[in-house]
Amino acid sequence: MTSKKLMEKKLKKNFIMKQHKIETILVTGGFGYLGTSLVNLLLKKNYKVAVVDNLCNGKKFKKKNLIHLNQNFSSKVITNFIKKKNIKKIIHLAAYIDAEESVNNPVKYFQNNLIEFKKFLENIKNLNLKKIIFASSAAVYGNGSKKKIDERFDTKPVSPYGLSKLQGEKLLGFIAKKKSFSSYSLRFFNIAGANVNIGCGPFNKSYKHIFNILLKKKIFFINGNNYDTKDGTCVRDYVNVSDVSEAIYKLLKRNEINPNNYILNCGSGKGISVKLIANEFKKKVKNDLLIKVGKKRKGDPTSIISNNLKIKKLISIKFKNSNLSKILNEYDQWNKSK
Ligand SMILES: NC(=O)c1ccc[n+]([C@@H]2O[C@H](COP(=O)([O-])OP(=O)(O)OC[C@H]3O[C@@H](n4cnc5c(N)ncnc54)[C@H](O)[C@@H]3O)[C@@H](O)[C@H]2O)c1
Repeated sequence: MTSKKLMEKKLKKNFIMKQHKIETILVTGGFGYLGTSLVNLLLKKNYKVAVVDNLCNGKKFKKKNLIHLNQNFSSKVITNFIKKKNIKKIIHLAAYIDAEESVNNPVKYFQNNLIEFKKFLENIKNLNLKKIIFASSAAVYGNGSKKKIDERFDTKPVSPYGLSKLQGEKLLGFIAKKKSFSSYSLRFFNIAGANVNIGCGPFNKSYKHIFNILLKKKIFFINGNNYDTKDGTCVRDYVNVSDVSEAIYKLLKRNEINPNNYILNCGSGKGISVKLIANEFKKKVKNDLLIKVGKKRKGDPTSIISNNLKIKKLISIKFKNSNLSKILNEYDQWNKSK
């Protein structure tokens, strides 16, 4: 290539970067577990990011091109900010996320996850948005099935948390259709993994996920070992937080020629049993862990595994970090850094 052509190429690249850089993405709940990973990725990809997080569960960090609005996401301050900055794309992660707690305190969950979300959508529906990406959950499927679950599987949530997510999806879908913007409701399966370099890991109290219990406790109780699975213990789908962030980034970049509304599973497509996780964790992360078999928990589904073909086809994502050995390595590093 001649030096003139090289120079032209460089200028073009700079121009594209600058154009790209001016786009600000609003991320609610951006200082939570997933948010920390996602916001870091978006900044790396040269977006500006406005994080709306009231820090009820989040941990603030500072970076170039990152603004923090310490507010409830449904506040009018946020609406005015979106208007002023001409923001067109929003990623809504903010929510309470503990399904067990939601059974004991349903009002708390419907208030934050649904009623505040409704207020937020009412506030922003006339702002000419291009797209909203909404963090939904596999909890919408309730008790799951022995087979992989695709998006057409019956939605029968068993917790107020799951129901608040399902209703959030529906509300978003109707408003997006009416106002002609694209919406993506991503049904996340169990998000796992950590990245010590950016402080993304189990730093808050929202997580009652298996890895967080394994990290914290000296004795780990397997809740029942006579389920109808290969080794008798429950099976779940673990998707790496970095793969989830990549999926959101790819959806964000997608050209929206005709606005559409999508519901997409976001899981690894693989099932891993509780017993296998506990044994591998003991081997690779915490050698002195004691593993015992405890009682079955009420309402614990036997198996929940995603069929992830729809999202894979839409954005060509491979979920390459969503395997047990990579996830355990990340927790090992996290554990050593604490
Ligand atoms: N972690 C998982 O395995 C998982 C699985 C399925 C779905 N999800 C969904 O993904 C999203 C992110 O999950 P996470 O694991 O990062 O949770 P998290 O609790 O770590 O993050 C949520 C963030 O939202 C903030 N927040 C909550 N309510 C707010 C409000 N009213 N106004 C402003 N900020 C508020 C919290 O301070 C926190 O930083 C949630 O919507 C959750 O339901 C997570």
